[in-house]
Amino acid sequence: MTEEDFMGQLYQKFPVTIDKGEGAHLWDIDGKEYIDCMGGYGVAIVGHRNPRVVKAIKEQVDKIITVHGSLYNKKREEFLETLIGLAPEGLSQVHLNNSGAEAIEAAIKFARKFTGKKGMVAMKGSYHGKTMGALSITFNPKYRKPFQPLLEKVSFASYGDIEDLKSKIDADTGCIILEPIQGETGIIVSPEGFLQEVRKLCDEKGIVLIFDEIQAGLGRTGRLWACQHWNTVPDILCLAKGIAGGVPMGVTLTRPKILEKIRKGEHSSTFGGNPLSCAAGTATLQALTKDGLVENAENMGRVFRLGLEKLKEKHQIIREVRGMGLMIGIEMKFEVRDILMDLIEEGVLMLYSGRNILRLLPPLIISEEDIKKVLQILDTVLTKEEERRNV
Ligand SMILES: Cc1ncc(COP(=O)(O)O)c(C=O)c1O
Repeated sequence: MTEEDFMGQLYQKFPVTIDKGEGAHLWDIDGKEYIDCMGGYGVAIVGHRNPRVVKAIKEQVDKIITVHGSLYNKKREEFLETLIGLAPEGLSQVHLNNSGAEAIEAAIKFARKFTGKKGMVAMKGSYHGKTMGALSITFNPKYRKPFQPLLEKVSFASYGDIEDLKSKIDADTGCIILEPIQGETGIIVSPEGFLQEVRKLCDEKGIVLIFDEIQAGLGRTGRLWACQHWNTVPDILCLAKGIAGGVPMGVTLTRPKILEKIRKGEHSSTFGGNPLSCAAGTATLQALTKDGLVENAENMGRVFRLGLEKLKEKHQIIREVRGMGLMIGIEMKFEVRDILMDLIEEGVLMLYSGRNILRLLPPLIISEEDIKKVLQILDTVLTKEEERRNV
């Protein structure tokens, strides 16, 4: 009996059954240890079983787990204060929800209500989630086509091409949404100047600018917010993944004038802002800011990149290494499935990003020692792959 007997075939599964984790390490049910460069698809930013998060959750469990948004709760208040204290300037209102897709759904609704306009422009290569609204602005036709009709009036502009973006705008365009670094399409960093130009365009046309930092935010790129690299603040910022240290939580941050337009009952979430997620969320933000994790992401990102560039010189099957901080893509000339399987065999977990790209989203606490080990193992695995392919 396996999970798939009950859950269908929805996930691309790796043949590993994880039992426990600590920091940047995981153990399977047979006690085999792995270095985790998958990071729960980017969720484990502060490391598995981060002591601050574990302590906060344990304390909260002993107090209360659920408090609906129609009642006040001090843990929620504390989380909101901590988050707003760190958020990019001007983003001082928050809707709390439970996942990335939900954070995006809220952003779509808020932008539509604020502008009264239906048109949305997203980017080619975008990924924003798989609920019907988020799916409508997710580029890959493979995900969208089977579920059409989706939201109407969505167009996709070439990522990084301001002229193409301008050509997609009309009088009914209410919002532009983009990831400062595209994650699912292979770690594509937005070109210099692009975010600033999009900001200017939105200001001129009265369009709401939404940034999806669900994967790139929270220190991953070596800055707390990815948009800081380009000194650009959106009107709405979506967060999720690691924000509550592994407990489900999504966050839609907005400028006050936007949330002001939403009336009571027009949007809500039963679990949104529950005290367990909020306690874990505050502990996560403290871990990020007080334990030097953002700086570590920058420093360890540099170590990783240097090592990978060296591997690229040695292994011709690597086409390109790119990314920022600990959000790294290694584009290969071939499909990476066999490489991923060999890495598992050797005790390293990595992700796909498209068929021929290895993606690394390790916890931000990863050590230099672990990175050196990963580079060494990758070297061995790539040599094996070259032998297999006769290159
Ligand atoms: C950039 C981005 N946006 C949205 C999502 C959707 O998040 P969730 O899977 O929590 O719905 C993801 C998930 O990978 C993502 O990477």
